Amino acid sequence: MKKERNIYMTTQSDLSTSIKEEGEKNLTLYAHFPTLIGVATNPDHQALENKLTKKCLKLRKKIKSGGENWISNETYNTLGTYHLNEDPDFSNINDFVTNQVIHYCKAQSIDLNCLNINPTDAWLSIYKKNNYQDWHIHNPAMISASYYLRCNNSSAKIYFKNPVTDMILPAILSFNELNFGRVWFQPQPGMVLIFRSYLYHCVPQQKNNDIRICLSYNYGRKPEEGKKYI
Ligand SMILES: [Fe+2]
Repeated sequence: MKKERNIYMTTQSDLSTSIKEEGEKNLTLYAHFPTLIGVATNPDHQALENKLTKKCLKLRKKIKSGGENWISNETYNTLGTYHLNEDPDFSNINDFVTNQVIHYCKAQSIDLNCLNINPTDAWLSIYKKNNYQDWHIHNPAMISASYYLRCNNSSAKIYFKNPVTDMILPAILSFNELNFGRVWFQPQPGMVLIFRSYLYHCVPQQKNNDIRICLSYNYGRKPEEGKKYI
């Protein structure tokens, strides 16, 4: 029998994920609809960093920058102008990222049959001093990833915004994962971040004189068997 898939299915709350307020015996809180950001580190990164950084800098000289209409259009990138997923020099990193995306899906029971494991696009961004990236999403992808090829501890962070649009923000006494409005990650060489493509994120100005190179990946959804479109 064909299993029915309904992404808006309502289910009974799982008591094991509930949160009890200290001292309160009656009120139970359920942390449903979490926003999952996956983090992993490529064990082969060190051997690749210098060679691929040189390659990225060479590409910057000969490949036209993408993102002409971006507000942050001084940040060099190859979105739509050079596809890392088609470059065998990047195959180790491409495969590593794709494997981590698969783990990200498995962890939340996403059917791998719906994941197109060939990225719809993969591009590089080189941040020099004062370069940044405005808030954006990766429409129309399903899952996206940011891999850090070159950076250091003072490189610009990446910020993610809480996807819930609140109307009247309550005042918060102490911040934690239940009430963050946004979170940031400090990029590390070889680190990949994986997130659903609807999640708004941005990069503030790069403040140091070193370059920050990020490789971005978009993964789309595959149409169901026998169908041409999703
Ligand atoms: Fe992005």
